[in-house]
Amino acid sequence: MGSKSRIAKYIVPIIQRYIDENNIDTYIEPFVGGANIIDKINCNIRIGSDLNKYLIALLNHAKRELPLYESVSKELYDKARTAFNNGNTSEFEDWQIGNIGFLASYNGRWFDGGWAKPGYEKTKNGQRYRDYYRESKDNLLIQAPNLKDIIFNSCDYNEYELFGCVIYCDPPYVNTKQYANATKFNYDEFWNTMRFWSQDNIVLVSEQSAPEDFKCIWEQEVSRSIKATDKSKSTEKLFIYNCEDSYLKTK
Ligand SMILES: C[S@@+](CC[C@H](N)C(=O)[O-])C[C@H]1O[C@@H](n2cnc3c(N)ncnc32)[C@H](O)[C@@H]1O
Repeated sequence: MGSKSRIAKYIVPIIQRYIDENNIDTYIEPFVGGANIIDKINCNIRIGSDLNKYLIALLNHAKRELPLYESVSKELYDKARTAFNNGNTSEFEDWQIGNIGFLASYNGRWFDGGWAKPGYEKTKNGQRYRDYYRESKDNLLIQAPNLKDIIFNSCDYNEYELFGCVIYCDPPYVNTKQYANATKFNYDEFWNTMRFWSQDNIVLVSEQSAPEDFKCIWEQEVSRSIKATDKSKSTEKLFIYNCEDSYLKTK
């Protein structure tokens, strides 16, 4: 679940250095997704939020180490997807929709990804059996103890007023339809909020490109897919605001 697990080993030490060197008390991730970065950060207060209330319900369920679905059949997946698309999920609890939508969808892409059918996958040396749901579920169970003292909230990133925090943002990427709610995302408004927050906080942004007043502090080519045969690559980058009015330059 979540593409950022692949680059966590590179960007977590960068984020952690900003927290430690500036004696920061509060770390916030307003686009927390699968919580693959925040679970590795050390900070007195860690807050992860996301617009997707089902995902937040799943993370709150998982952090209490409560059981997840043992397996998710195509029938159960279709029932949950139809309920979600029709806006009538009353037959499910929120965490159940999150469980099915996040852990049983192909490439962790919410219901847009479609049911991740288990099966044989070609590898360099032949074939291997992949049960994508089991892999995602096991990953979340392993992750759960590291989620315990994180505060998870469902809200729009724009609702925050923040001072003296380290904030890491991983918004939906431009030109990729990874998440059901990504299509309405306003990027001009997003970068303006990043500028505003950067006056009183240390703000780091994962994106493929950024306006000129942000500088790239790290980049790396990574593979896009969970399938061994899919060799498509993308470049991951981390940006920071680079103007004289930024918190780091004025403090
Ligand atoms: C690229 S994903 C984050 C992935 C995460 N870093 C991970 O490793 O799993 C973007 C997230 O932003 C959320 N999102 C989209 N629009 C949002 C908004 N306006 N406010 C808060 N979250 C939003 C989506 O629900 C999605 O979980």
